[in-house]
Amino acid sequence: MAETGAHGSTAASAAGVGLSKGGGTATAPAVLEVEGLSAAYGPVRALDGVTLRAESGRITAVLGANGAGKTTLLRTISGLVRPTAGRVVLNGEDVTRSPVEAMVTKGMSHVPEGRGVIAELTVDENLRVGSLFRGKVGQDEFDRVYDLFPRIAERRGQTAHTLSGGERQMLVIGRALLARPKVLLLDEPSLGLAPRIVAQIFALLRKLVDTEGLSVLLVEQNARSALSVADTGVVLNLGRVVVTDDAARLAGDEDLRHAYLGF
Ligand SMILES: Nc1ncnc2c1ncn2[C@@H]1O[C@H](COP(=O)(O)OP(=O)(O)OP(=O)(O)O)[C@@H](O)[C@H]1O
Ligand SMILES: [Mg+2]
Repeated sequence: MAETGAHGSTAASAAGVGLSKGGGTATAPAVLEVEGLSAAYGPVRALDGVTLRAESGRITAVLGANGAGKTTLLRTISGLVRPTAGRVVLNGEDVTRSPVEAMVTKGMSHVPEGRGVIAELTVDENLRVGSLFRGKVGQDEFDRVYDLFPRIAERRGQTAHTLSGGERQMLVIGRALLARPKVLLLDEPSLGLAPRIVAQIFALLRKLVDTEGLSVLLVEQNARSALSVADTGVVLNLGRVVVTDDAARLAGDEDLRHAYLGF
């Protein structure tokens, strides 16, 4: 890990001393490792040598302003964008050139920006369509998602276009969880949602991480909320990692907050 932040923190220091909100200490094994990842859209360089790791049973938040490269990072990790350099390692396996559809079976689920649902289908149909790639999914697995999101359960017969933004977000997260991922990539789940709903969704993620060993790579512009739930934070600026550190320490670094995080 080569990034050294302007604020004196290094990726290595975060890896060594991360205080887990789940009560763990030191470094957990990485479920996902990103090494020197670069990506470009024609002449636009969107990612420039990004190195980070998502630890097992932890929430890693990737923060940064508009255009920092957060969405591109998730799209490159999940195989939607081909990197120009670097590697993506999932559970010890190099998946850099794996097709996007293979990622799900290898344990990675990506919830993209924008909460895409099929508006004309019901909530239940959206969940079932989302699970088709897995072959037969037992009713107990759907029930588990409905248990996690009672608001979605109440609306299972409603068409998806009638859902609020928060309910749609719960539906797409629920759909991603049906794949039983080891690592969940989430792109700005809080965007446009009321703080109370954001808190609910983040609390649920925390519970899944702490009780089921899920690992989350959470991309957010809403740095304050993300750092309050995350174990580790990675700040991205203009496609590069500026700093990686324990989430609480990042939240307490006033200079860094003002320079990059907007709070
Ligand atoms: N499809 C594309 N074609 C060309 N340039 C793109 C494309 N997608 C993103 N970019 C550029 O890549 C850079 C990173 O964009 P990206 O969407 O990854 O940022 P972001 O951090 O997710 O921003 P936001 O917070 O607004 O979602 C930006 O300069 C953007 O203009
Ligand atoms: Mg984005």
